[in-house]
Amino acid sequence: MDVDQRYARFQQLQSYVGWQEGDGERLRQLGPLVESHFDDLTADFYAEIERHEATRQVMVGGQQQVERLQATLKLWLGDLFSGIYDAAYVARRWRVGLRHVEIGLDQQFANAALSRIRAALTERIAADWKGSASDLIATLISLHRLLDLDLAIIEDAYRYEYVLAQKRTERFVAIGQMASGIAHELRNPLNVIQTSVFYLRNARRATPEKQAEHFDRIQRQVAIADSVIGALSDFAKLPLPNVGPVEVRKLVEETLANHPPGERVSVTLSGLDEAPPLRGDSRQISIVLANLVRNANDAMPDGGRLSICAEPHQEGGSRWVRLTVADSGPGISAEQIYRIFEPFFSTKVRGIGLGLAICRAIVDNHGGKLRVSSTPGDGSRFSVTVPAAD
Ligand code: HEM
Repeated sequence: MDVDQRYARFQQLQSYVGWQEGDGERLRQLGPLVESHFDDLTADFYAEIERHEATRQVMVGGQQQVERLQATLKLWLGDLFSGIYDAAYVARRWRVGLRHVEIGLDQQFANAALSRIRAALTERIAADWKGSASDLIATLISLHRLLDLDLAIIEDAYRYEYVLAQKRTERFVAIGQMASGIAHELRNPLNVIQTSVFYLRNARRATPEKQAEHFDRIQRQVAIADSVIGALSDFAKLPLPNVGPVEVRKLVEETLANHPPGERVSVTLSGLDEAPPLRGDSRQISIVLANLVRNANDAMPDGGRLSICAEPHQEGGSRWVRLTVADSGPGISAEQIYRIFEPFFSTKVRGIGLGLAICRAIVDNHGGKLRVSSTPGDGSRFSVTVPAAD
């Protein structure tokens, strides 16, 4: 949210609480009357912080921080009675919420502290008041309106900045997970290659068969490492789909040939010939199907049932093709199911967690939908719905 948006929001709330020109003027005139109380208000504010473990522990910056906080609170109080509540005022108020997120203060304590400040100001203004009762009421209403607006900005800022801070942390965690995922995925083939190279260099009586075996191993491991890098670069710069008609049966059969299910997995195919061709980038759609088939296989290391079903689907006046890949594995828990499409989230021991994120990006780029449903103990179903070719 930029400065103008924050100010526009403030003005909207001002109008909601019924803020008038006169409110600002009344507060400006009140300024000189309340200034003499700022010291005790600040002292009371700080004494209350000291009385509670939750707020005391936020003050990690020692005496210097206490002094800074007291000085800024006085400035904050002075600002309340300046009579000028413009975009710069809103920006200064916003900073309070931001600063509280940075120091990890529970927002509820700012609300409680404001309640103390409000009560103390009301008491002191009433005690010092020399004018009429109706003027006093009008002045207090102006003050409460402004304090409510202030609190609204501080809360808004707190929520907004808190979410940003959380996203930053999540990004760091994700980068960490990605780095360790990639390291893990590449270290395995490199170790195998190193062992074979060592053998080829040092084995005294290596038979040609044994040598060929090691060269094959090296080649296989290079291919594995290459596929990891391929997945990463697929993800980094997924090209826009180059669409054309894709025959469903051909797509499914080629995918199964390249990613054969385990020996004890029985495969059921249905609807492949009845479904119309889909409109998509055949290379990208086969990446999606390959990922779903591979995941289904990985979910059934001891065998099970894999079914791939194609069906035409009508929605929103358009024709679609829906491909469903279902397995009879252990299913996905309720906590995991919300996260499985996130990049770098993986439930596999060895996995960088990019497969489903790439699938979702591809299907989104095709204007389609990728959905999952799963019952723990009773397998998972992934369905890809993409436009049918005209
Ligand atoms: C309505 C209540 C409160 C108001 C109006 C308020 C006001 C402020 C202001 C104006 C700042 C300076 C922001 C800046 O850097 O520009 C600040 C910072 C800070 N506030 Fe609050 N605050 C409130 C409640 C609290 C509470 C309950 C605590 C409890 C510990 C607290 C702790 C702090 C701390 C530690 C800082 C950082 C000081 C520094 O290191 O410079 N605040 N607050």
